[in-house]
Amino acid sequence: MKILITGANGFLGQHLTLHLAAKGYHVLAVSRGDCRIPLPHNFIFASLDITEKQPVDALVKVYAPDVIVHAAAISKPDECEKNRPACLLHNVTATQFLLHALQALPQGKSQFIYISTDFVFGENGPHAEEDEKGPLNFYGESKLQAERLVEQSGLPFSIVRPVFIYGAVWQGLRPSFLHWVKNNLEKGQPIKVVSDQQRTPTFVEDLCKGIESIIENRKTGVYHLAGKNILSPWQMAMDTAAILGLDAALIENVTSQSFAEPVKRAKKSGLKIDKAIHELDYNPVDFKEGIRSTFNIT
Ligand SMILES: NC(=O)c1ccc[n+]([C@@H]2O[C@H](COP(=O)([O-])OP(=O)(O)OC[C@H]3O[C@@H](n4cnc5c(N)ncnc54)[C@H](OP(=O)(O)O)[C@@H]3O)[C@@H](O)[C@H]2O)c1
Repeated sequence: MKILITGANGFLGQHLTLHLAAKGYHVLAVSRGDCRIPLPHNFIFASLDITEKQPVDALVKVYAPDVIVHAAAISKPDECEKNRPACLLHNVTATQFLLHALQALPQGKSQFIYISTDFVFGENGPHAEEDEKGPLNFYGESKLQAERLVEQSGLPFSIVRPVFIYGAVWQGLRPSFLHWVKNNLEKGQPIKVVSDQQRTPTFVEDLCKGIESIIENRKTGVYHLAGKNILSPWQMAMDTAAILGLDAALIENVTSQSFAEPVKRAKKSGLKIDKAIHELDYNPVDFKEGIRSTFNIT
C-alpha cells in the first residue's frame, strides 16, 4: 500500500513516517523543506509546497497513493491569528488542492486522512466526535473549514483529532512541552504553568498506531485519538518533574489570566476516545507511561 504523508518534517509527520515505513508500507514523505527525518531512509522523500496547485497535482498523479495522510499545517494558533490569509492558504486551500489531486486519480478510491484538532471545539470538554463545534480562535476555525472540505469531497475519508501531542524528540524536531519543562528544571529555572486548563494529551506513538489501524482496516469517519488522562498543563509538568527526579518546587501553579495570550484557548478541552477504543482497538498509554517512553526511562 502506498501512503503519502504531508508535513513529514513536523512532529507527527516524522514519527508517522518512521512508524509506517517500519511496518512495511511504501511511504512518500512530503514536506516543504529538505528532509529532516533521521536515517535509515526506508521511505521516499519529496520537497513540495502544498500551497502550489500544479506541483501538488503532478506529485499525486505520479505517485498515485492509496492513502494520503494530511498532517501539514500552520499548527501554531498564535501564527494563524497573526497572519489569517497565510493560515487560510496553508490550512484550507492547500487541503483543497490535495483533495482535488486525489479525486483526479483514475482509481478514484484512495483514502484521505485529515489530521485535525480539538481546537474545532469550544468549551465544555471532553468532547465526543459529533459534539457541536465552536472554535475559539482562527486556527480552530481554519481546521474546521478544512474538515468540511474533506467531508464534502466524495472521497473515502477519515478525520483524526489529536490533542496536545507529545513524545520523543531528536535533532530536527522542535522540543515538546515536556522537554521545555525538563530543560528549564534541569537548569534550576523557575517556570509558570497554568492549572485552569484541561487537556487529554496524546502520546505520539499511540496516535501513529491509531492512524495505522485506520489505514489497515480502511476505516472511515471521525476519530478522536487522544490520551486517556484528563490533565492540566501544571499537572503534566508536575508528573514530568516527579518521573525525571527534578525539583517540582520550581513549577509555579498559575491561572491563564497570568499570561496575556493573543489567542483564546478553551479552559475545558480534551477529547473522548470511546469510539476509537471500540472501533480501532485503540489503547493509549497512561500519561506517566508516556512520559517514561518519551525520555526512554525503563
Ligand atoms: N502538535 C499538536 O499538539 C497538535 C494537536 C492537535 C492537532 N495537531 C495537528 O496535527 C498536525 C501535525 O502537527 P505537528 O505538531 O506535527 O505540526 P508541525 O510540527 O508544525 O509540522 C507541520 C509541518 O507542515 C509542513 N508544512 C507547513 N506548510 C507547508 C507547505 N506549504 N507545504 C508543505 N509542507 C508544509 C512543515 O514542513 P517543513 O518543516 O518542511 O517546512 C512542518 O514540518 C497538524 O495538522 C496540526 O494541526 C497538532
